[in-house]
Amino acid sequence: MKEKNFIIKGDICYSKSKDRLSCTEHGYLVCTEGTCRGVFEKVPEAYTGLPVEEYKNAMILPGLYDLHVHAPQYAYAGTGMDLELLEWLNTRTFPEEERYADLGYAQRAYTLFAEKLRESATARACIFATIHRKATEILMDELEKTGMKTMVGKVSMDRNASRGLLEAGPFQAAEEVCRWLEDISGKYKNVQPILTPRFVPSCTEKLLEELGKISRRKKLPVQSHLSENPSEIAWVKELCPWAGSYADVYQHFGLLGAEYAPAVMAHCVYSGESENERKLLKENQVYIAHCPQSNTDLSSGIAPVRKYLEEGMKIGLGTDIAGGHKMSVFQAMAEAIQVSKLRWRLTDSSLVPLKTEEAFYLGTRGGGSFFGKVGSFEPGYEFDVLIISEARLQTPAALTLKERLERIIYLSEDRDILRKYVAGERIF
Ligand code: GUN
Ligand code: FE
Repeated sequence: MKEKNFIIKGDICYSKSKDRLSCTEHGYLVCTEGTCRGVFEKVPEAYTGLPVEEYKNAMILPGLYDLHVHAPQYAYAGTGMDLELLEWLNTRTFPEEERYADLGYAQRAYTLFAEKLRESATARACIFATIHRKATEILMDELEKTGMKTMVGKVSMDRNASRGLLEAGPFQAAEEVCRWLEDISGKYKNVQPILTPRFVPSCTEKLLEELGKISRRKKLPVQSHLSENPSEIAWVKELCPWAGSYADVYQHFGLLGAEYAPAVMAHCVYSGESENERKLLKENQVYIAHCPQSNTDLSSGIAPVRKYLEEGMKIGLGTDIAGGHKMSVFQAMAEAIQVSKLRWRLTDSSLVPLKTEEAFYLGTRGGGSFFGKVGSFEPGYEFDVLIISEARLQTPAALTLKERLERIIYLSEDRDILRKYVAGERIF
């Protein structure tokens, strides 16, 4: 086992709560057995003798968490964002995802994706693959090698897709999920499976029912999309007229998660407009993956994140590649603030814009809790740490730690990351 007992010294910031930062200059961050023991101004006696690595001109932050990203869409990120969701899926997304039937293509594309994720500030992520079982396993193999902790879903879809992306029927689609789970059983230390019905329009009710049964039987978490775009929501109403809301469809089939395995729903741009939906999300402690860049690129709208925070809902950030174009959770923090300002100015002055502390919380502790005790430096949290160089961000101004953190959120790039640790293991 690699050495997991050490101390990092430097300027340290993490989220204490959704609107409070803890910042310590020249602090000591202690790791033993891959677990954080806290931030100290002096090394406590119990830890004297541990090796100390000191960083200057850098900040020490928790890892970032991407609650929603599509690995196969990385190949065309940054193109074709002149469409809204449903047309974008049919003309850009489905044709690209069909290619993952070709395992050679999947290998090339997923190698690039895993390397990009490894280099990024993301420590853990919830990832969609495609319907293809073997290609999904290739993605999991590549991610396992990075040392990062990820949850990966073989996507399920048996209606309303192009022929190459349609599974033969609900039972065959459920059977494919079971075979995939058998194939990977016990194979990985860092990668876990997550059930992934694409969204209601892509899955017959029978398939949703079967996936709900698998989730219960195997105690598996669930990821999907929810209330992203007006046409999508209208379509779900047509497909499931019996449901009290879009979320109620997932709830009906046991796909909104449980104590043992939570669910994460991407977007929830319009969940603020349905009492029924918000109630279900709250009751089931469903995580919302807020994806501001995707919601802008696909003209989906602006999620009322302030309202969700006020109501104590579970929420984190997602990049939603390739609905979003950049795989950066720092950028998602900045954009969460930006879009909240536009919403406040243009449509709803009762929901005040997000502050830096809140956006940082969403990208660290808020989303991190989906994976367990991660995203903070309080004692007992898993040791997920980023060391960000400020060498490129020099200024003659005298900045506080909080201001330096703001500059990192708005201005840093992947190349500024000096070190990344996940659960005490050094990724680079
Ligand atoms: N809804 C169903 N599939 C997708 C997808 O691939 N991306 C986004 N943003 N929304 C979806
Ligand atoms: Fe998505």
